[in-house]
Amino acid sequence: MIRSVVRGFGTALPKRVLTNAELESMVDTSDEWIVQRTGIRQRYIAGEGETTASLGEAAARAALDKGGLTPADIDLIIVATSTPDNTFPATAVNIQNRLGMHHGFAFDVQAVCSGFVYAVATADAYIRGGLAKRVLVIGAETFSRILDWTDRTTCVLFGDGAGAIVLEGQEGSGTTADRGVLTAQLRSDGAHREKLYVDGGPSTTGTVGHLRMEGREVFKHAVGMITDVIVSAFDATGFSADDIDWLVPHQANKRIIDGSARKLGIPLEKVVVTVDQHGNTSAASIPLALAAAAADGRIKEGDLVLLEAMGGGFTWGAVLLRW
Ligand code: UT7
Repeated sequence: MIRSVVRGFGTALPKRVLTNAELESMVDTSDEWIVQRTGIRQRYIAGEGETTASLGEAAARAALDKGGLTPADIDLIIVATSTPDNTFPATAVNIQNRLGMHHGFAFDVQAVCSGFVYAVATADAYIRGGLAKRVLVIGAETFSRILDWTDRTTCVLFGDGAGAIVLEGQEGSGTTADRGVLTAQLRSDGAHREKLYVDGGPSTTGTVGHLRMEGREVFKHAVGMITDVIVSAFDATGFSADDIDWLVPHQANKRIIDGSARKLGIPLEKVVVTVDQHGNTSAASIPLALAAAAADGRIKEGDLVLLEAMGGGFTWGAVLLRW
């Protein structure tokens, strides 16, 4: 059985750091409120010349280097983003060109904060279906460009960045002892559309629009949806919370992360947290956290790693993989 195994990982962050203290001079907020309610201490904000594609390209190059690969070794690029450089062509095609890659194929997936989980699930399906051998899976965002910087209920929460992994098809035994993606569980429910959305678009207003969120409503659903889909991942593999070496959650809010881990019975020492440093970088948050924990040696070969996310749509999902 073919398994999709992580071969490399990499990240890219904008140069500029925006601290909570700086936000205090922009909107009616405080470092204390932001830290208490979200766990966020700072976020990175894209400057001139930094875009979703440029950050995605840098993360992709780092992931290729880490895997000892070049663009010639890749046959598919999937970019998870809700903040593309252009409405079209896809940011994935833009990055393909930036990498000097003129073979294979590339496309974007749009599932907001669940985008990276959706992209990994998609890459895994292409690999196991024999349609691709090595896939660059990138989560890249510049949410700073769709924020309403006068709305304190949203502008303090998000940041920019990119993370990437290379998934490679490798022969496995078909058991859960294999390295690679062991299960991917995806869900969506469009009934929740108006709780987290962008109030513009090419086919409605003809503008880009701004992010709008009923934070409390999103919060109310988050822990239940996350734990539900993780239980499905456990049911599909026979694993339980005790078997997990690392939980790498979407980084929206430390309270949601802690609440989900507690409900599942996963000790907080096994949870990778970067929301304090990056804020919520939507589709980039999981690969940024994953790479941080892999780079500093916390995640080791053979570890059972659980990824989860929930976001606009609503969309939600989980991936269980062996590193
Ligand atoms: O990526 C996936 C999607 N996003 C999320 O997962 C986000 C989910 N939601 C959340 O993380 C939380 O709901 C927030 C962090 C957005 C808000 O935390 P909360 O504990 O739900 O606060 P709240 O919305 O109930 O607001 C509490 C108070 C309000 O004042 P009143 O009505 O009690 O007087 C807000 O106006 O805090 C006020 N407030 C602020 N105060 C200082 C809202 N934003 C701010 C702010 N600074 N930035």
